[in-house]
Amino acid sequence: MDKTEAHQRIEKLKAWLKKWNYGYFVLDKNDVSEAARDQIKKELTELEKEFPEFITPDSPTQRVGSALSGKFAKIRHITPKQSLSDVFSEEEFRDWEERILKLVPGETLDYVSEVKLDGLNISVIYQKGRFHKAITRGDGVYGEDVTHSVKTIKSVPLELNEVGYVKLDDYPVIEVGGEVLMTKKSLEDINAEGGQQFANPRNAAAGTVRQLDPAVSAKRNLEMFFYSLNLTEKSKLPAPNSQQDILKLLNDLGLRTEPHTAHHTSLKSILSEYQKWEKKKDSLPYIIDGLVVKVNSLRHQKLMGSTAKSPRWAVAFKFPAEQSTTKILDIEISVGRTGAMTPVAILEPTQVAGTTVSRATLHNEDEIERKDVRVGDTVIIQKAGDIIPEVVQVIKDLRTGKEKKFRLPKECPVCGGKIIRPEGEVVSRCSNKNCGAQHQQQLELFVSRSAFDIDGLGEKVIEQLIDAKLAEDPADLFTLKYEDLMQLELFKDKKTQNLLDAIEKAKLVPLPRFLFALGIRYVGAETAELLANHLHLKTHSVTITEEQKRDQMTLFAEPAASKKADVAEISTLIEEMKKMSPEELNAIDGIGDKVAESIHEWFRDEKSLRLLKKLEGVGVKLLMEEQAKKSDKLKSLTFVITGTLPTLSRDDAKALIKQHGGHVTSSVSKNTDYVLAGTEPGSKYDTAEKLGVKIIGEEELKGMVE
Ligand code: IVH
Repeated sequence: MDKTEAHQRIEKLKAWLKKWNYGYFVLDKNDVSEAARDQIKKELTELEKEFPEFITPDSPTQRVGSALSGKFAKIRHITPKQSLSDVFSEEEFRDWEERILKLVPGETLDYVSEVKLDGLNISVIYQKGRFHKAITRGDGVYGEDVTHSVKTIKSVPLELNEVGYVKLDDYPVIEVGGEVLMTKKSLEDINAEGGQQFANPRNAAAGTVRQLDPAVSAKRNLEMFFYSLNLTEKSKLPAPNSQQDILKLLNDLGLRTEPHTAHHTSLKSILSEYQKWEKKKDSLPYIIDGLVVKVNSLRHQKLMGSTAKSPRWAVAFKFPAEQSTTKILDIEISVGRTGAMTPVAILEPTQVAGTTVSRATLHNEDEIERKDVRVGDTVIIQKAGDIIPEVVQVIKDLRTGKEKKFRLPKECPVCGGKIIRPEGEVVSRCSNKNCGAQHQQQLELFVSRSAFDIDGLGEKVIEQLIDAKLAEDPADLFTLKYEDLMQLELFKDKKTQNLLDAIEKAKLVPLPRFLFALGIRYVGAETAELLANHLHLKTHSVTITEEQKRDQMTLFAEPAASKKADVAEISTLIEEMKKMSPEELNAIDGIGDKVAESIHEWFRDEKSLRLLKKLEGVGVKLLMEEQAKKSDKLKSLTFVITGTLPTLSRDDAKALIKQHGGHVTSSVSKNTDYVLAGTEPGSKYDTAEKLGVKIIGEEELKGMVE
């Protein structure tokens, strides 16, 4: 066969295989026998071996790449990934509906229900219609790059279908989300092989996705169903108006959706769907743990918005959590990062939802009192999803009279400090700010993956550093010396040098991760991201190493593209934060009263400011989000956005303004230059009119930057 013939044959074989695989793995129908498919794949593999110049990344033979050598790269999500809030009863579900109805007065809502798949959420990015990357949810802001193993999942197409007349090259960047899971049958098969044993399909799926060797992932038959879609650029594809449209568009693109969805116009219909699945759940080949109910209209979804953690327009209506009975052997106190005392029941080990449970939270003193939990009691415990197991109820009939009541100690079990319970609060705390437990947890948080991400500083090492008085606060980590580390257990030359290098590298830290690392009460990774997006700090440019550049990598930035980065000094952050009132913080979408108050207080606390200054002194610098600057047309202009814009999402509008040098803030003041208003604007519109701030629409904004 000559070169031209080989090329033609390869293209033909690929087209056939693609069509058959799509029919088999996505549409669940058998166009040809498996043997025929295998035969064609064999022919293609052989031809590609002979003519490697014709191998393309989307060839069905290219699903399994080579093994990764180390840990997964961390990647920032295009938009932060949220999770769903849970409801566990009809009553809680009704409350949810009541709450969201109030957010859209006068509107009638309809819903889509989907079964809640018990796997792991993965985002897949398609660029020009071709599979680009797959990322785990991670902490919502950063996920892990699991492209190599997700690519082996046969129901994930390497190329999307062309919809209408839109050519693949004209596709925008498409981010789709879905669940990767393993069927009950596949799990049985894997466990029967006698190798690594998995407690349940979810663990098996998670373990397989995080396999370094894609050949192993490929053998384990993972499946994927898609349920969400994010068209990130202006797109020629039909714009979806509802979750139903999204599911249809996903299908049209060739992405498999779970078939058991239903449309509802009444609460009654949703409740009966829930009851139906509660009874029927075991008949499905994979595990489901509830129903996901989503408001259908995207317009309604937008009006309802999100909290920092989850959308208001969707809810996970969970089936009753799996429960088990066991005995309480003891009650211990665990001291948290903020000094909070949590009573923990030490249990006779028992199996719940496929895992062994030996500790369960008792939440606080009042809960113990309310449930009348005593040491020696037989109790029902439950585990709901990933939540820490909890004690639900005491079986009082089984008491022998020997059970002992529990009293919270007066002194902290870790440092002996006085325990206080502020008036009106249910949580008791250690009053000693230097308490060892608080200190340990503060340091663990500081070096964790979503914070400074310092490898080699585990729990044990931190413990030793604290004992040796080498880490009185997190800033001390940056002045550790070779001799300091060499005196620690198991530290030899290489390990010491690696840790010192990791610490040095960490001095340049992305702003959101820095804010998270501070351990401000109520500020998780997502809130830190919201706050960081709101801040416009004065920056200067520095030269950075390639490794640092990679850490800052957003999805499409080439790691080595530039070795310059915009950084800000911590003192600039202090200045900005000092200027910010609780009201301004509260005005950031996703930051509520309590959180705003906590942030505001933290940046006014003497001890916090000392820590910040010390961090600056040891050379910590804040790495700012890279903004692809397009022009300076909006330089020094401040915008506030309100209402729904005709084509741009709020984030797109924000990005556009920033790309042209402008700022976006959340509240209107006399310093605001323009209010960008869409339909149904909020009170910001009225304030703008009152203050005489110029109000513009999307078209005018676009005109300004053209
Ligand atoms: S929508 C805002 N739909 O449940 C998050 N999630 O608790 C968008 N899940 O992380 C998720 N089935 O892993 C959605 N039909 C479904 C789902 C589903 C399972 C999982 C998913 C998510 C978790 C949220």
